[in-house]
Amino acid sequence: MFKDKLLEIREGFTYDDILLSPAKTAVDPKNVGIETYFTRNIKLKIPIVSSPMDTVTEGEMAVSMARNGGIGIVHRNISANEQMQIIRKVKREESIIIRNVHTVDTDTPIEVVRTIMKTKNIGGLPVVHGEKLVGIITRRDLELVPGKKGLKVKDVMVRDVIYAKDNISLDEAKEILFKNRIEKLPLVDDSGRVVGLITAKDIYTRQRFPNATRDEEGQLVVGAAVGPFDIDRAVNLEKEGADAIVVDTAHAHNIKAMESIRKMRKALSVDLVVGNIATAEAAEDMIALEVDGLRVGIGPGSICTTRIVAGVGVPQVTAITETAEVAEKHGIPVIADGGIRYSGDIVKALAAGANSVMLGSMLAGTEESPGVEMIISGRKYKAYRGMGSIGAIQTGISDRYGETGSGKFVAEGVEGAVPYRGKVSEVLFQMLGGLKSGMGYVGAANIDELRKNARFVRITASGLRESHPHDIKVITEPPNYQIYQV
Ligand code: XMP
Repeated sequence: MFKDKLLEIREGFTYDDILLSPAKTAVDPKNVGIETYFTRNIKLKIPIVSSPMDTVTEGEMAVSMARNGGIGIVHRNISANEQMQIIRKVKREESIIIRNVHTVDTDTPIEVVRTIMKTKNIGGLPVVHGEKLVGIITRRDLELVPGKKGLKVKDVMVRDVIYAKDNISLDEAKEILFKNRIEKLPLVDDSGRVVGLITAKDIYTRQRFPNATRDEEGQLVVGAAVGPFDIDRAVNLEKEGADAIVVDTAHAHNIKAMESIRKMRKALSVDLVVGNIATAEAAEDMIALEVDGLRVGIGPGSICTTRIVAGVGVPQVTAITETAEVAEKHGIPVIADGGIRYSGDIVKALAAGANSVMLGSMLAGTEESPGVEMIISGRKYKAYRGMGSIGAIQTGISDRYGETGSGKFVAEGVEGAVPYRGKVSEVLFQMLGGLKSGMGYVGAANIDELRKNARFVRITASGLRESHPHDIKVITEPPNYQIYQV
């Protein structure tokens, strides 16, 4: 009985154990397609997701990830209200037509207008009388009357406001905005009521980020993490506009968690991702709960100590292949979460069967992450910590790891710092360049071909040594290969 355990033992592989075999190719890396699915219904232009960690994804990261064609998942180590506020802000960042337009009445004092503009960060407000549009008031109009007391909106507003009917096309709206050199175009219905607003800023932003992940309303797509028992939070986040809910637990293959996930599924209409898991059996059980995506990885993360503290985990490439084998039959996308250090790991993760990868450490050093900046030995770093680190458990409300009920913690992660890496777009440029190059070598014209046709070779410790730069003192660090990690 016991000795069989070793006879039956299976082998697990991770990124450093394998390489992709080059193959005959007609594929030009410049022309490969890297669109993919994050969940059953959410399509991405790039196969990259930012992790729901408190040093990785808040509003700025989520906006940047979506603008670059991926998606960010806002972490849950904050109150439900704070998380909802972040989601609301990301959703309001861009839109084709703003629907819940803030308006003011002709008799509103301009001090009140100033406060609305400041608190809501709005540059101009349509003015109504009764329900009808009668003017517009902008920051510029207020600047013309600095410090004047007792004025009302009707004293400073622009009266001959340019507006359009609600059914106007975006191209027509663009023409009106540019022709009249105006920033805002209110839309009205047949009785003159304000029913929408198109802004020049939104139009510029759409043109600047043509690859962005947007919903039908033109708003950026964003995900939100919740604990497996946080059904209320999940429902409220959906109400705020979250496009996907990600159940964020260290071990989703837990009967109590699964019972709750089943209820959560019924309470939500948006896509539901569950994780983390690392076995085929867990994939089967999660898919039976009618989820829309699987988050795969137990212990591969750069800050994880689960495998060391608990002795549990599955090397990441094996975890991906086993779960993807099951998920593929049901058409459920797999997100390979944790352990990605180089662009080559992304190519390997997708070739193993993942549809997208989730990054923590690779994005924690960017300008858009919420981590604190620091200088160590003259080099700039940003704080990065595991959600199961003592610091994260103590300062937050996340119950992902370490809950003993005794007031003491058993950590499953560490706290540290990663080198500063500039903007998210710069990191993604390097990562996607490597991905496209890998697809060229293996002859995959798109992610699906990479997933299905690419083949691996197993390498030895000497093979790994040979793979990294060797027999040289590297003195300049390229942007896609950090020496400190080797
Ligand atoms: P990378 O390698 O991208 O990994 O930095 C990020 C992923 O690691 C997971 N995570 C943890 N795992 N203890 C763990 O065992 C932790 O404290 C912890 N915090 C995050 C998570 O899946 C994340 O996306």
